Amino acid sequence: MSQTPAFPATGQLSPASAESLLLTNVRPYGEGEPTSLFIENGVISAIGSDCPETADQVIDAAGKVLLPGLVDMHVHLREPGREDTETIATGSAAAAKGGFTAVFTMANTNPVLDQPTIAESVWAKGQSIGLCDVHPVGSITKGLEGKELTEFGMMARSGAKVRMFSDDGKCVHNAQIMRRAIEYAKGIDVLLAQHCEDIDLTDGAVAHEGEVAGRLGLRGWPRAAEEAVVARDALLTRDYGARLHICHTSTEGSVELIKIAKEKGIPLTAEVTPHHLVLTDELLESYDGVLRVNPPLREQRDTMALRQALLDGIIDCVATDHAPHGSEEKCVEFDRARPGMLGLETSLAVIADTFVRSGLASWRWVAKVMSERPADIVRLPGHGRPIAVGEPANLTLIDPDYTWTAQAAQFDSKSENNPYEGMEFHTKVTHTILRGHLTCVDGVAASPRN
Ligand code: DOR
Ligand code: ZN
Repeated sequence: MSQTPAFPATGQLSPASAESLLLTNVRPYGEGEPTSLFIENGVISAIGSDCPETADQVIDAAGKVLLPGLVDMHVHLREPGREDTETIATGSAAAAKGGFTAVFTMANTNPVLDQPTIAESVWAKGQSIGLCDVHPVGSITKGLEGKELTEFGMMARSGAKVRMFSDDGKCVHNAQIMRRAIEYAKGIDVLLAQHCEDIDLTDGAVAHEGEVAGRLGLRGWPRAAEEAVVARDALLTRDYGARLHICHTSTEGSVELIKIAKEKGIPLTAEVTPHHLVLTDELLESYDGVLRVNPPLREQRDTMALRQALLDGIIDCVATDHAPHGSEEKCVEFDRARPGMLGLETSLAVIADTFVRSGLASWRWVAKVMSERPADIVRLPGHGRPIAVGEPANLTLIDPDYTWTAQAAQFDSKSENNPYEGMEFHTKVTHTILRGHLTCVDGVAASPRN
């Protein structure tokens, strides 16, 4: 196993502006014999023996795996409003370092992302930084108040081309408002993403309702609080909808409901976070506020059911729910800690170590659940595409045999609420390429363009 020093925390490089880039000795999808791949003007222009021998920039990718650029349909970049915890610039750098070429940033900002002008400013800022495509998610209701729908159409037609709407962080609780949102979304063909939480059942809840929470004296969050809304919204989608996406699926019962809904032909899709796949409520013995998250870490039978559902395609994709918070919001009593944890800089390693190194799945499957399916669910052009001549050069290069330790102090994220602190991983993103430009080189994110 190769052992090299830890990567520096922040990059000094600017997104490389070379016109052409040649990758040598690379294995697309980790399959077949090593080959070459030539990128010109942002597009893959040759693969194999058709490649020229040199280019403006050459990367020897011996031993590395090439995947389509990763797509994360659920992050919180906190701008506008909480730039002390994350900005579009620091979040973009964290995304590039994590192998992402496109992310969708949720609407629970301050002000709430409920108008075209705010969406346009988030999109424009992401583009001027140039490290990752940052797509704004519009809120479903004005001010996330759950009462009045926002103007989906105006946001969809704006310069930001908003294609997904969510009140994430909060559930659209009122069934009639949700029905109207579903009908509206169907009419203009946009995606709705629901944070499934029956707030009457979770009043005051901070941890999964089970033996651990009982022992630790923490107020419990029942599985049924999530499952009741999954079931309700599946039924509303059956009767009125087109495309509904379930955020951060966390229970065995939700998996069963999503399976039934899909078998009945209801157009439902679902994501799971890396933390709900690998972490359980037993960790809460430490009372560490970093481990508080919505929905909460569940039990092993849930993590096992979620893993199997992701392998079987019942759950469509992985999304990080990257949720930065300041230490003053996390280093407090568990029940006062703000829910949420970092994810962008560890997700590929969590997924690859859990599924590929263990032999459960292939790199092609990782491409599916971390790039192709999310791009497809949000109908995002140019990302999640096959590694083939003529396709946009949005790519991620991975060292499949590299041991490193996750330390928030070395992350590009502005916050430190890393649930994997001190844990060892064996897979690492080394390079990220956005339309032919290197946004991460040797594990170091490039500097923002502006
Ligand atoms: O843990 C969470 N944190 N879950 C959410 O749904 C929202 C998020 C946040 O914004 O911090
Ligand atoms: Zn979220």
